[in-house]
Amino acid sequence: MPGSMPAPDERLRAEFNRWAEEGKGEEMERHHLAITEKTVRQMALRPGERILDLGCGAGWATRLMAGLVGEGPEGFGQVVGLDVSDEMIRRARQASRDFDNILFIWGSAHAIPWEENFFDKVLSVESFYYYPDQERVLAELFRVMAPRGRLFILINLYKDNPYSLVWVDKLKVPVHTRSQAEYVALLRRHAFENVEAQQIPDDSPTPDDYLTHSFDSLEDLRAFKRIGALLLTASKPDVRNPAPAYTIY
Ligand SMILES: C[S@@+](CC[C@H](N)C(=O)[O-])C[C@H]1O[C@@H](n2cnc3c(N)ncnc32)[C@H](O)[C@@H]1O
Repeated sequence: MPGSMPAPDERLRAEFNRWAEEGKGEEMERHHLAITEKTVRQMALRPGERILDLGCGAGWATRLMAGLVGEGPEGFGQVVGLDVSDEMIRRARQASRDFDNILFIWGSAHAIPWEENFFDKVLSVESFYYYPDQERVLAELFRVMAPRGRLFILINLYKDNPYSLVWVDKLKVPVHTRSQAEYVALLRRHAFENVEAQQIPDDSPTPDDYLTHSFDSLEDLRAFKRIGALLLTASKPDVRNPAPAYTIY
């Protein structure tokens, strides 16, 4: 049984353990698959690469990527799934027994329990706006990413999609609601290069009899999907040493 975590992470752990127990970890695949598939295509994963799935939840995207980086002429790739919820991690492990190139670890994005300069690519789906100290998480990502490693942060909750803000009061934990421009500036401040932002519409159909609990109407849900999620992409520069903006916590 894991011990406790610093207070803000402990709160997230408790909340997402509750989500996991309600089966929401597996359910999220249905909601996030369309935008995640588009993102994974942009990641251009190759056999042999080392990938981090930050805030992996029940691990469906981790498995999707593990199938793409497994054994090939360029070696044997692996995917590490990290989540603050030990119940999500338990379920992810259980569902991934057939994979020998996945490792799920319980831990916080604020203190990634991994060595420096390791990951070729990082994906984080619908998790980044929950991190109380996003600056610290970016410093941690910079540390564990390989030189010239690529970062893909995909989030559905941000200022430029006004329909997404309906969740702010519904969620039981505090969230960040930055704009696309603010996120780009944040990544640049953390010495990432080639920082870009794009909107990823969710093209999955919304049937007329779909029951939405989050949105005021089906029209709002459709508008939310049309505007789409925010995908932030960036590269770590070709350095092994800490970059100027890097802070050791
Ligand atoms: C909305 S869910 C998305 C899960 C998964 N990426 C998906 O799309 O199905 C957010 C996830 O982020 C995780 N999370 C939140 N705060 C975290 C933190 N500080 N460190 C690591 N994971 C965190 C939660 O436990 C949860 O599993």
